[in-house]
Amino acid sequence: MRTATGTDEPALEVFPPGTGRAADGVLVVGGCRVDELAAAYGTPALLVDEAHVRATVRRCRAALAAAWPDAQVTYASKAFPATAMYRLMAQEGIWVDVAGLGELEVALGAGVDPATILVHGNAKGDDLIGRALEAGVAYVVIDNLDDVDRLEGRATREQRVLVRLNPDVAPQTHDAMSTGGQRSKFGLPAGLAREVIARVRAANLLTLAGVHVHIGSQIHDLAPFAESVRALRALVEELGIADVAVYDLGGGLGVPHLRGEHVPSLEEYVGTLAAAAREHLPPAARILIEPGRALVATAGVSLYRVVTVKRAAATFVAVDGGMGDNLEVSLYGQPFEAVIAAPRTAGPRAPERCDVVGQHCESGDRLVAGVELPAPAVGDLLAVPVTGAYTHPLSNNYNGALRPPVVFVGGGEHRAVIRRETLADLVRRDVA
Ligand SMILES: Cc1ncc(COP(=O)(O)O)c(C=O)c1O
Repeated sequence: MRTATGTDEPALEVFPPGTGRAADGVLVVGGCRVDELAAAYGTPALLVDEAHVRATVRRCRAALAAAWPDAQVTYASKAFPATAMYRLMAQEGIWVDVAGLGELEVALGAGVDPATILVHGNAKGDDLIGRALEAGVAYVVIDNLDDVDRLEGRATREQRVLVRLNPDVAPQTHDAMSTGGQRSKFGLPAGLAREVIARVRAANLLTLAGVHVHIGSQIHDLAPFAESVRALRALVEELGIADVAVYDLGGGLGVPHLRGEHVPSLEEYVGTLAAAAREHLPPAARILIEPGRALVATAGVSLYRVVTVKRAAATFVAVDGGMGDNLEVSLYGQPFEAVIAAPRTAGPRAPERCDVVGQHCESGDRLVAGVELPAPAVGDLLAVPVTGAYTHPLSNNYNGALRPPVVFVGGGEHRAVIRRETLADLVRRDVA
């Protein structure tokens, strides 16, 4: 098999390591031929290279352990909140953060120890706060005064909390992925934080353990991360809470989606945070980091079948998925690569500039613009890499689409960890 390294197919650079082509040209991911996966699970399907997730998580853990004495990687599970992923993270010694009651239930159901769970949310309802307290989660991250009301009203034993501060740091990323700017709905500016902290300190059963900051997602530049650590510490001093021990520095590191694209590595990211921490935080601080995307994105590959090829204003290659299973393009304008993963028919094909589009009734339902594909034809399998984060959880039933299965692959083995939705699922909630 020809693998990504050393092929003349640069797009394979952004597929999981070890991805290559069998002698007949069929793409092989995690040791599995995609034509066999398509036969077993249908298309579209989200393939996840399990070994690559584990390797990425271990790299992150090792980098953080080497950089700071008391530190913990916490997986921002919103990126891929599936039972199998929660189990994997727990097996790897990773904590998880959840941002809703559903994520909390799935994590608990997967067997994640509540003492390793952080609860986020800018609008936590009574149900989420109640369940978090009942389960005994590690920390509830307070984002507003109403969180304090709810916690105070319901706590029956000590609950440790972090306070999410707004550092007024706006990294360069899509507006919809920027969360640390002054006008963000997330986090507390100094004035409000002061009130929250006074309330927490006065509450019998709440313990202020530390502070939290998160500036956004898909961030390619490390400087804002360092700046957020400095700003966080400045806020801590301004608020007179320098005695707190826990500094949760959030997540947000981006990943490369395109051939030749450079994004700092996990090691560089952790190194930047640790250097900023050495400069600004007490040496005994306990540091948490919350990467989501950077742990899972590059392990994912979306597998589609070409349904139509329309040669009009452009060559529109329409596949059997789209914004129903990948909202990253319509929400954030995220560019992706695409390759023909298994041509329907053998033989040489001339490259053609194409727009890969979805099957949904929206002009914005485009997966990849202006990609060169070898004369795509109906029935080809087409693969889009780096779809392991924020695709599965944002998948939807638009136009009655059935949400795709998630298939873990590795070492030539494969197993569905989430089945495809069925037509019966579509009406399961209809009551009249
Ligand atoms: C509080 C918090 N932590 C961590 C993350 C993870 O971000 P990313 O997946 O970009 O690492 C998010 C996502 O935006 C978040 O809201």
